[in-house]
Formats: sequence, C-alpha cells, structure tokens
Amino acid sequence: MKTKHLIDLEDLSVSELMDIIRLANQIKERPQDYTDVCKGKILATLFYEPSTRTQMSFKTAMLRLGGSIIGFDNPQNSSVSKGESLKDTITVVGGYTDIIAIRHPLEGTAKAAAMYSAASVINAGDGGHLHPTQTLTDVVTLYNEKGTLENMTIGLCGDLKNGRTVHSLIKTMANFKNNRFVLISTPELSIPQYIKDVLNASTCTYTEVPSLAEAMPMLDVLYMTRIQRERFASEEEYEKEKGVFILDREKLLDAKRDLKILHPLPRVDEIAVDVDYDDRAKYFDQTVYGMYARMALMKTMLDDNDRSTASRLFDTHNVKCSNPRCITAAELYLPKIYREVGGDMLLCKYCESRTLI
Ligand code: CP
Repeated sequence: MKTKHLIDLEDLSVSELMDIIRLANQIKERPQDYTDVCKGKILATLFYEPSTRTQMSFKTAMLRLGGSIIGFDNPQNSSVSKGESLKDTITVVGGYTDIIAIRHPLEGTAKAAAMYSAASVINAGDGGHLHPTQTLTDVVTLYNEKGTLENMTIGLCGDLKNGRTVHSLIKTMANFKNNRFVLISTPELSIPQYIKDVLNASTCTYTEVPSLAEAMPMLDVLYMTRIQRERFASEEEYEKEKGVFILDREKLLDAKRDLKILHPLPRVDEIAVDVDYDDRAKYFDQTVYGMYARMALMKTMLDDNDRSTASRLFDTHNVKCSNPRCITAAELYLPKIYREVGGDMLLCKYCESRTLI
C-alpha cells in the first residue's frame, strides 16, 4: 500500500482496493493460513463515540490475525477527561502500537491524528464525514453478492446528509464504470455538495428522488441508512425526519428478484424486522464481510510497517473553517490547511467543508 494511513478510501488506488477485496476473500476461505500473520503487532482502538460493529470487528480481526489489542471505548476513562489534546494522546499511543483505529464525533479527526502518529491511523468514523472501513465492508459485500462493482443502479436511502457511510460509499463506487446512483431522501437530509461535486466529476450519473417506492423497481442495490439522531441540532428537528422511509415486505413486492439490501447498521426502524427473512437482505452477512475486510486491510498495512511521522504542517491560510463540527474548532493548535477551489472558496483539508476566504 502506498499510503501509511487510511483516512478516506480514496487514499487507495482502485488496484490496491481490489487487492484488499481479494485478500479478504482468501482469508474468509482459509482463515487457518492467517492465524499468526500479525503476531507481535498491537492495535489501539480509540473510540470517542459509541460503536458495536466497527470496534468489535477491528478487535476480532486483529485477534484472529494473532496480534493484540489495547484502547478505550469511553474517553472519560482516559486522560482525555483531564484535558489531554488529540495531538498528545495520539503521539503517546502511536509510540505504543502499530495501528490506531480512531472514531470521533468531530469531522477530520483521523486526518489530524495521522499528522502526529508513528503508528498507522485508520479512520473508524469521523462525525458525519467519512467511514472508509464501512465502505470496505460494503464493497467486499457487493463484490461477493453481486459479482461486480460496475454497471449497477444503487439506491441510497435515509439520512444522506449526515450518513458518513453513504458519503464514503458514493466516493468509492463513483470510481467504477456505469454506476447510477438514486439518492432517496427528504430535501432536509439530502447529500452534501462535496459529494455532488465528486459525482459530477465522475462518469456516473445520479438522480435525487423523494420516494422509496418510486425508486424501488429500478434498483440493483438498496443501501438503507438510519436517521442520525445524534447529529441533529434539536430533538424537534429529528422528530420531523424520523420514520419517513421504512422498508417493509410490501415495498419489496416491486423490487428486482436479485436486489441486494445493505445497511451499515445499527438499525432503528427503517427496515421492518420481517425483511430480515427475505433472501435479498444482506445486512447481517455484511457485518461478517466487514471483519474479513478489516483483517485484509490491517495485514496489508502492517506488511509495510512504516513508522515515519509526517513533517510539521503550517497554516496555508489564516482562516477559520466554517464547519462548527470540524476538528479544528476544538483542537485549536491544528494548522489551518486548505485547498483553493476557485473564486473566493477554500476547501478544508480536514472536513472538506467550503469556507470563504
Ligand atoms: N456500521 C457501524 O459503524 O456500526 P457501529 O456504529 O456499531 O460501529
């Protein structure tokens, strides 16, 4: 792998991504060949936000590869509760371990962590921004269940604004030929502009529709998502959005026979429980593919064993990021780094939000 860290799945070339998918399948076929390939290696899971699947599948993956695990799932039980900065926490943990999987409620945190870490950093979810190892899980699932990553009509339904898994998945699937995206949401929870920019720059097409029933007959893949209650400014705003899109057996009457239904989970009420018994429902299989995907990723990263630390970065512009959920709003020592995107606009390199100069 050319990159030391995995912050965005875009850090991998398509051929590196395909190598990881193939390795995940090899490990799934013959796990006995991989039981000590990470012997002596240590993974830290630093979870500043709750998780079941991502945290446990990372831990299980490392244990199944013969390595060891440390970490926290509640920062209040660490020196973060005494005011320790992200920079200091990461510098220390990076000195103890070989890989850090970090989840944080603020956007751009994994990118910031990678600037201070001797260990490889994996983004295990940064606020409403990205979740690349969920996407790795999703593409391993699609490759196995559809036999291809091309030529599909992919419906994404629910909270497309705050759903980091949706953002990462679209960015990745837009690299494959002839995919068509059907974006199913309310106007309030529609896809952010930076993802539309990615789609507009790709060869893929997209449409935005307000109805799941309308979209259903054309879909090869349906990616359902939860309305992300924790990202809403108020309970009142959440109440307006919850329960709008619910997949049930009746809606599936109009679906293709070879549709595959994915969901990153956790589910709240957006998929009725009796859909679980439809053979097109793949979301629990998806969780198992995720463990093999993370085994393949960590083995590949550790084979390279790069312990170099990044050079110090300095402000590119003396401008505050416009996104209040950007990590730079909380960790004030971070250099303000932007890419110029034309006109008076800057793109924050942590959270990818646009800010006026
Ligand atoms: N899909 C996912 O990220 O699940 P968790 O929040 O349980 O890790």
